Amino acid sequence: MAEIVGAYFTSHVPAIGGAIHRGDQQTPYWKPFFDGFPKVHEWLAKVKPDVAVVFSNDHGLNFFLDKMPTFAVGAAAEYRNADEGWGLPLYKPFKGHAELSWHIIEQLVDGEFDVTICQEMLVDHAISIPFELAYPEAKEWPVKLVPIGINTVQHPLPSAKRCLALGRAVHKALEGWQGDDRIVVIGTGGLSHQLDGKRAGFMNPDYDRFCLDNLASNPDALTQNSIHEIVQLAGTQGVEVLNWIAARGALGPSALEIHRNYHIPISNTAAATLLLEPA
Ligand code: DHB
Ligand code: FE
Repeated sequence: MAEIVGAYFTSHVPAIGGAIHRGDQQTPYWKPFFDGFPKVHEWLAKVKPDVAVVFSNDHGLNFFLDKMPTFAVGAAAEYRNADEGWGLPLYKPFKGHAELSWHIIEQLVDGEFDVTICQEMLVDHAISIPFELAYPEAKEWPVKLVPIGINTVQHPLPSAKRCLALGRAVHKALEGWQGDDRIVVIGTGGLSHQLDGKRAGFMNPDYDRFCLDNLASNPDALTQNSIHEIVQLAGTQGVEVLNWIAARGALGPSALEIHRNYHIPISNTAAATLLLEPA
C-alpha cells in the first residue's frame, strides 16, 4: 500500500539558488531563512519518501501567456531543468513516475477536473529550488517526480476553492493507488509578494500568518477570499499560495503542523517553510 508521509511547503525565490551557489547560507541576510531547513532534512531522513507530488506554477518556461492551462499534470519519464532567465545554474533532472502520473490524470478527469496532460515538461526554479533546499547533498534526487502545475500567472486564475478541491481529488487518487510508494506532497511559491506594478515590493505578514495558522487545521478558511481578494491580500505573485492550498488538499482530511519558519524578506518575498504530517 502506498503511504502519504506528509507535506513540505516552501517559497521558491530564484535568489535562493544564487545564495546556495555562492555558499551564502550562513550570512546574516540568508541565515534566518536557511535555519528553517535542518528540521526539513531530519524529517525527510525519517519519513523517507520515494515519490514527490509537487504543486507549483510554471514561470514562462513551458507555458506562456498565449497558451496557459489552468491545471497541468506531467506524465513524463524524465523532467529536465532549464532557467527561464534568472542566470541560475542548471539543476539535476528528475526521474518521473509516469504510471502514477497517468493514474492521477485518469482519476482527476474521471472526477471532472479537465487537466492538461503533459508528456513533456521542463522544471523551473519553482521545483528545482525547493529540492536543492530539501536535499542539499544529493548527487541525484532520491524521489521520483509527479509535477502538477497551477496557473498563478495569466488571469483568469482558478479560485482557492477549486485548487483545494483539486488537491482533495489528488488525495483520493493517491489513496486508490496500488503501488507501495512513500509519497511526499509538496507545495511551492508564496507567501506574499508582488514583483511588479505600483505595489512592487508589497508583502503582508498578517495575511501570511492567517494562511499559515489555518493551513493544517482549517484549510477551507483559505478559500473564503475570491482570487481577486487574494491578489489584494497576498500580492500579484503571492497568489502562488494556491499551490500550497492544493498541496494541503492532497495531504488528506486532517493534518498536524510539525515545523514552521517565516522570514521577511528574501528578495521581494515573505518566505515561509512548513512541514505537515497526516494527523
Ligand atoms: C521572486 C519570487 C518568486 O516567487 C519568483 O518566482 C521569482 C522571483 C522574488 O522574490 O525575487
Ligand atoms: Fe514564483
